[in-house]
Amino acid sequence: MTLPAPTRRLAFREFSPADTDLLVALDSDPQVTHFITGGMGTTREEVVEHVLPYWESFYRDHPGYGYWAAETRSGQEFIGWFHLRPGVDGPWSEPELGYRLKRSAWGHGYATEGSRGLMEHAFSVMGAERVLAECMRVHSASRRVMEKCGMTLVREFRADWPYRIPGDEHGDVEYAIDRAAWA
Ligand SMILES: CC(C)(COP(=O)(O)OP(=O)(O)OC[C@H]1O[C@@H](n2cnc3c(N)ncnc32)[C@H](O)[C@@H]1OP(=O)(O)O)[C@@H](O)C(=O)NCCC(=O)NCCS
Repeated sequence: MTLPAPTRRLAFREFSPADTDLLVALDSDPQVTHFITGGMGTTREEVVEHVLPYWESFYRDHPGYGYWAAETRSGQEFIGWFHLRPGVDGPWSEPELGYRLKRSAWGHGYATEGSRGLMEHAFSVMGAERVLAECMRVHSASRRVMEKCGMTLVREFRADWPYRIPGDEHGDVEYAIDRAAWA
């Protein structure tokens, strides 16, 4: 099991079926899922039958990459998750970063700190050449996290969202950072 190293305040671990309640609760907050599903939650059935099996298969099929639970090191409190995953048809050396945190954890710099931890893991442990991240153009908080991590805007595009989300008419953005810029 290759996990990203702990950061100053956060530790990462793999998910297991014991995390079902945490994941259902995380997605039950419409503000958390606003820019992902337009505010719709994830049912327990989806978590048990699709989300967790997929994440667990990811650990086997893509060692060193994955979706990891983030906990505070001081109190082992679950604050949400981060992912680092190669694109479906993309090269292993260009993983995509993502994050979803509980609302109570917002505004403390955790997304930036965790993302930087995953970037360090990508470049130093996994030998990545480039890390990218995407979000809706109007998702200012997520864009700010990417910028604070040193990523720069690469392109604007229009993702094929399965949900209608307010602001999606403005399209999406991709940010990236390469190994040289990280160093
Ligand atoms: C996006 C998200 C991960 C940010 O987490 P966080 O821990 O609060 O992020 P950080 O504290 O590291 O940084 C957030 C930055 O965005 C800024 N910000 C927050 N809301 C903002 C807004 N509406 N407009 C502009 N900037 C905003 C903060 O001020 C901060 O920047 P600063 O340090 O320069 O002040 C969190 O809100 C979240 O999990 N949202 C729900 C899931 C989600 O949307 N995931 C991303 C999908 S692409």
